[in-house]
Amino acid sequence: MKITKICCIGAGYVGGPTMAVIAQKCPHIQVTVVDLNEQRIQAWNDPNTDNIPIYEPGLSEIVAEARGRNLFFSTNVEKAIEEAQVIFISVNTPTKTYGKGKGMAADLKYIELCARQIAKVAKDNKIVVEKSTLPVRTAEAIKSILDNTGNGVQFQILSNPEFLAEGTAVTDLLNPDRILIGGDTTPEGEDAIEALVEVYSNWVDRDKILTTNVWSSELSKLTANAFLAQRISSINAMSELCEKTGADVNEVARAIGMDSRIGPKFLKSSVGFGGSCFQKDILNLVYIAKSYGLNEVADYWEQVIIMNDHQKRRFSSNIVQTLYNTVADKKIAFLGWAFKKDTNDTRESAAIYVADDLINEQAKISVYDPKVGRNKILNDLDYLETRSAEVNSNAIVTFDNAYAACENAHAIAVLTEWDEFITYDWKKIYDSMQKPAFVFDGRNILNAKELTQIGFVYQGIGS
Ligand code: NAD
Ligand code: UDX
Repeated sequence: MKITKICCIGAGYVGGPTMAVIAQKCPHIQVTVVDLNEQRIQAWNDPNTDNIPIYEPGLSEIVAEARGRNLFFSTNVEKAIEEAQVIFISVNTPTKTYGKGKGMAADLKYIELCARQIAKVAKDNKIVVEKSTLPVRTAEAIKSILDNTGNGVQFQILSNPEFLAEGTAVTDLLNPDRILIGGDTTPEGEDAIEALVEVYSNWVDRDKILTTNVWSSELSKLTANAFLAQRISSINAMSELCEKTGADVNEVARAIGMDSRIGPKFLKSSVGFGGSCFQKDILNLVYIAKSYGLNEVADYWEQVIIMNDHQKRRFSSNIVQTLYNTVADKKIAFLGWAFKKDTNDTRESAAIYVADDLINEQAKISVYDPKVGRNKILNDLDYLETRSAEVNSNAIVTFDNAYAACENAHAIAVLTEWDEFITYDWKKIYDSMQKPAFVFDGRNILNAKELTQIGFVYQGIGS
């Protein structure tokens, strides 16, 4: 089958950028991205592409090129489903907040809604692609819903997990390490796989397009995220030991990273990993393992999360301890709130948890992040339900430049590794602060020697 019409349900951090790149690279395919969230769709359609709802380097240019040509954003979900030959499901699959599996399992209600909507609307055969990250064997549930519509339509379910990282979404999509496509091993399944391979092969070498059975593909996504997060927790575990022993975690990371079997990537010690994926996907993996009675497997992976929580808590405790065991009424300046640089996404950002701890200690927090505004910061804190929205609002002041955020502060905490932080006039910042002036560099990005020479009391992670 030659694909000419694609629909994607979910215009979020994955659906938006992924479809924009498919549209850019495949001008012969009409790509429609739909979402229930009208405001989000409106923002994707904003005449000024700088106002699209997701900040990713290079994304607004691609949207500007393809939108209106063969890339469309709409709230008309049914029409887009009906017209498309291939339907990507790219909706959110957050951790369940209720019922069985609360706090662990993936909440599949949005996935099921999509399946039911496709079942209701489809009048001809369709390929349904799982783009969301899903528990292994979800395709079985989707298939069961789709096969029971009684209207004779044939569906093929493919798993095509997305491996992009935020902040580098566009380059990751343009030059992926691999594309993974899982499908049925029947002739119809193989045809569906081949149709999707053809779409990607418009810009990805065929030898980078890997095809597997559905279950391997679904499980590979959870496995990849678990392995990546595990490396961070492993180096963070060593960072605490470094602090006790005089070793320096950056030096240790470099030394082990030069072993080609280990490799240098994902060994950056930090205040803890954040983002919408790692924690959610590992909790889901732990839940799946437990549901098969594999308790040792579950405990093994759960430790990655336990270590990450410890790393975040350790960072805030250290601030309190170093500031003479009290931060009450002290101004602590946060540089960064996003979970990593080059994104406006704050989901599960370490900054949220560090702020929560420090507000418990009655600190006054001033925040500057180049891409995150006050409303999002307060929403993130309110979501934890630790205290009233009013108390959160009184504890947080936000600034649109770092110098103002740091003025009169007792300490600075670097929570995100934005490049601009490195090039600041640190002498000017020092002069405007309370003394002694502390810097807690949760990303190890600043020049420790230079800051110490200026007069700061500097503490990085793992040294
Ligand atoms: P997101 O929350 O940014 O976007 C999901 C969108 O789906 C929302 O805009 C929501 O309104 C919409 N939606 C939900 N139900 C809908 C329905 N029934 N009909 C129409 N629209 C609906 O989520 P995201 O970050 O894009 O993640 C999507 C999936 O991709 C998740 O499973 C996630 O684990 C996975 N993933 C995310 C990343 C990442 O970096 N964010 C990377 C790889 C995989
Ligand atoms: C991750 C996976 O990398 C990606 O393949 C998957 O599709 C989605 O989940 P993302 O969460 O967007 O991507 O960003 P990533 O670069 O993995 O960073 C996640 C968190 O780990 C961030 O908070 C980052 O700062 C932190 N991190 C990353 C470290 O602390 N140290 C590192 O060495 C790398």
